[in-house]
Amino acid sequence: MLPINEQIFLAPFQPDDKAALIQYLNDPVLYANTLKIPSPYTALHADEWLQFVAGEKDAPGGICNWSIRHREHGLIGGIGCFLKTGLNGHVDEIGYWLAQPFRGQGIMTAVVQRFTQWMLEQRPALVRIEANVFPTNPASIRILEKAGFQQEGYHRKVHLKEGKYLDGVMMAISRES
Ligand SMILES: CC(C)(COP(=O)(O)OP(=O)(O)OC[C@H]1O[C@@H](n2cnc3c(N)ncnc32)[C@H](O)[C@@H]1OP(=O)(O)O)[C@@H](O)C(=O)NCCC(=O)NCCS
Repeated sequence: MLPINEQIFLAPFQPDDKAALIQYLNDPVLYANTLKIPSPYTALHADEWLQFVAGEKDAPGGICNWSIRHREHGLIGGIGCFLKTGLNGHVDEIGYWLAQPFRGQGIMTAVVQRFTQWMLEQRPALVRIEANVFPTNPASIRILEKAGFQQEGYHRKVHLKEGKYLDGVMMAISRES
């Protein structure tokens, strides 16, 4: 468990998160701003996700994908890393989402700050963390900037989604040494 503030903490996903996943991930704004979350998000997608993250508990490096939880409301989001160059690699990438009712309260800024700090504490070989954001998502670029990420580049047609090539803004933070 990773505390964020008095109300919010990060913890492993739980089997009974299924209903909240289906409720919150069927969101056109969320779908428009992410690459890997399917739409419509079905019960089968939720089952597959919960099975995948349950398997992480026994993985050598432990959990990469955390649920964002509110003491009163339970599951409200997710944040994870992709293990781009493996657990002992020097580069990784993060992705995250927050349920619509909880946006605009500074929650994800605090979560990204704490989660990236935690990644650097846990993984001594890690020196660089990336986030690749659609240019149409200024809120995400802003939270990354507030968490210490810098905009490093504009990648044209870097993503392929529904047969369309989409641009990406490369945001990154590196370990101070
Ligand atoms: C993007 C997302 C994670 C932001 O989470 P959040 O908790 O609402 O963000 P915060 O409240 O911590 O901060 C949002 C910041 O963006 C700013 N912002 C919001 N909309 C903006 C806009 N249209 N233009 C510029 N800045 C904007 C806010 O003012 C705030 O900055 P400030 O504190 O300096 O005023 C959330 O909206 C979300 O999950 N969206 C859908 C999924 C997604 O986009 N995932 C990220 C993929 S890269």
